[in-house]
Amino acid sequence: MRSLEVDLGDRSYPIFIAPGVLSQVESFAPYIKGDQVCVVTNDVVAPLYLDTLLASLPNGLKVSTVVLPDGEANKTLDVLSTIYDTLLRDRHNRTTTLIALGGGVVGDMTGFAAASYQRGVDFIQVPTTLLSQVDSSVGGKTGVNHPLGKNMIGAFHQPNAVVIDTNVLKSLPPRELSAGIAEVIKYGLIADAEFLVWLEQNMAALLACDAEALAYAIERSCLNKAQVVAEDEREGGIRAILNLGHTFGHAIETHQGYGVWLHGEAVAAGMVMAADLSARQGWISWESVERIKSLLKVASLPVEAPENMTAADFMELMAVDKKVLSGKLRLVLLSEVGKAVVTESFDEQYLKETLTTC
Ligand code: NAD
Ligand code: GLY
Repeated sequence: MRSLEVDLGDRSYPIFIAPGVLSQVESFAPYIKGDQVCVVTNDVVAPLYLDTLLASLPNGLKVSTVVLPDGEANKTLDVLSTIYDTLLRDRHNRTTTLIALGGGVVGDMTGFAAASYQRGVDFIQVPTTLLSQVDSSVGGKTGVNHPLGKNMIGAFHQPNAVVIDTNVLKSLPPRELSAGIAEVIKYGLIADAEFLVWLEQNMAALLACDAEALAYAIERSCLNKAQVVAEDEREGGIRAILNLGHTFGHAIETHQGYGVWLHGEAVAAGMVMAADLSARQGWISWESVERIKSLLKVASLPVEAPENMTAADFMELMAVDKKVLSGKLRLVLLSEVGKAVVTESFDEQYLKETLTTC
């Protein structure tokens, strides 16, 4: 069992990473304080893992389940309110614990339901995609999409524990695995050059779902994320580096229609755009941009923006990014490979060139 801690004072919590943790009652019992639990999952994950999770809950609890419709297009306020419907119908009180069983969509929505139900109840993350295991389940960002912008309605609300069962990745479609690898590569680019080299050497093992390689990559990603979150929980500064590629990526997701490009795919193309702009600024070499593209391509990820998006489309959609301050766009760029900066000091002409050429 690999385990690490997100160090947030009295809101600190553990992350457990191991094959089979979903089947162990010890993964859950210490983190459930009251006698009520509501498991939230979706109609793809429920047939695969809901029974296993229910069998791992301590005896004597009153358990409700909510099965959401699958997909990014359902990450909406309307679908979210079906969680509140069940909580109220089954008379869940303030001591209830929500459990998110699924990918980042289920995790973000369950977390937001937990943040807002009766002004805040406990929740546990059980992420079942690689992307959610290395990123969305850790750090307490929760929320839903709005038609005008990705993740625009939400709250910070930390889980009580994150339970990562690496066995569940065996059922994950290859396209979803690659989408998760995009966020893994992100950690190498923003803060961990040594890990980037490891990824270049071990990408084949990751794509083949080698258990040891996956567990190592998940642990190292979570470690990177936990360090940043511990330093800047509510994104007053450094945490924004975790959004490398996301300003471009969120624009792609919103423009294409939620769910058409997977989040990780949009982030991959967005990271190439961030690298391209960093090279135009003279901060990294063009060889480095090619190196980044090669690694993403080996991971079967896109390295170009959608053909139907213009520079004007990007500019309009990026204007609602959460990092915009006083009307000024801030971007996460690379000052070197393995080090990100959050900056509004970039040449707008270079940005236009990036948007038209990538
Ligand atoms: P997802 O939740 O849509 O899951 C991808 C697909 O895989 C879905 O169809 C899902 O039902 C299916 N699935 C899940 N687990 C499976 C399994 N073990 N076997 C087979 N199929 C499985 O997408 P995602 O990539 O996990 O998450 C993307 C979401 O996460 C986006 O909404 C993004 O905004 C959000 N996100 C949030 C944060 C954060 O910090 N909160 C960070 C990154 C991404
Ligand atoms: N995924 C970005 C963050 O958690 O801050």
